[in-house]
Amino acid sequence: MEENERIPVHVSIIMDGNGRWAEERGQERVYGHAAGVESVRACTEAAVETGVKYLSLFAFSEENWNRPEHEVHTLMELMVKAMRDELPTMMKNGVRFLVLGNRARLSPELNAMIDDCEDRTAANGRLTLVIFLSYSGKWDILQAAKKLSDDIASHPERAEEFAAMGVDGFGKYLVTSGIPDPDLIVRTSGECRLSNYLLWQAAYSEFLFTDVLWPDFRKAEFRSALKEYAGRDRRYGRVK
Ligand code: IPE
Ligand code: IPE
Ligand code: MG
Repeated sequence: MEENERIPVHVSIIMDGNGRWAEERGQERVYGHAAGVESVRACTEAAVETGVKYLSLFAFSEENWNRPEHEVHTLMELMVKAMRDELPTMMKNGVRFLVLGNRARLSPELNAMIDDCEDRTAANGRLTLVIFLSYSGKWDILQAAKKLSDDIASHPERAEEFAAMGVDGFGKYLVTSGIPDPDLIVRTSGECRLSNYLLWQAAYSEFLFTDVLWPDFRKAEFRSALKEYAGRDRRYGRVK
């Protein structure tokens, strides 16, 4: 029981280092992205095995649209392929699949595939796998503020309720509404920054920065991250 209490409910990973992994092997960057899909599979399985309830993965940022067209195109194709290939395993393992981000920028083909995967896995409950696609933290906060201002304009009779709204109320306008904030955020490849990821939701997350490149981050590395988390002391501003 003691051990279980230290399993994070929500683990989030900034999957970084695919390009460098490929370059180390004298290959094109996209070769690293393909290898990274294997790590997604391994970490999803490890999350199911360890009892983590939410695994979220930063797959593509709003800023990543500025990469060369060939790389962006290949990444989007890999997403479609990975969803198609992994659906049977997700069903077998009871994984609910969700994509969060600026869906308006994704192709109709990718959006259709996402809708299909989300619908088919909607009743699964062992693990929720969230893929952040075309996502950025500032974008999320801005779209939340816009939705809130629309609500205020269309419901003047609820003015007092909006004025009294607290942080939890505002959090419901973020795309992550209903998903607990990440307990642990891991970033691979040695970079120690958030790169505009979950700015609001990371308020009290534990951070783990590892030099391991994403394609090398497999089950053993996932389990070792959980072990590190288990030793952290979360105080939330209080005195213990
Ligand atoms: C992470 O790997 C994947 C995405 C951001 C899409 P990178 O492609 O950023 O790899 P590096 O950081 O250049 O090595
Ligand atoms: C962050 O990685 C985004 C994702 C992992 C999807 P980047 O490689 O894009 O981040 P920077 O540019 O090094 O900050
Ligand atoms: Mg990178």
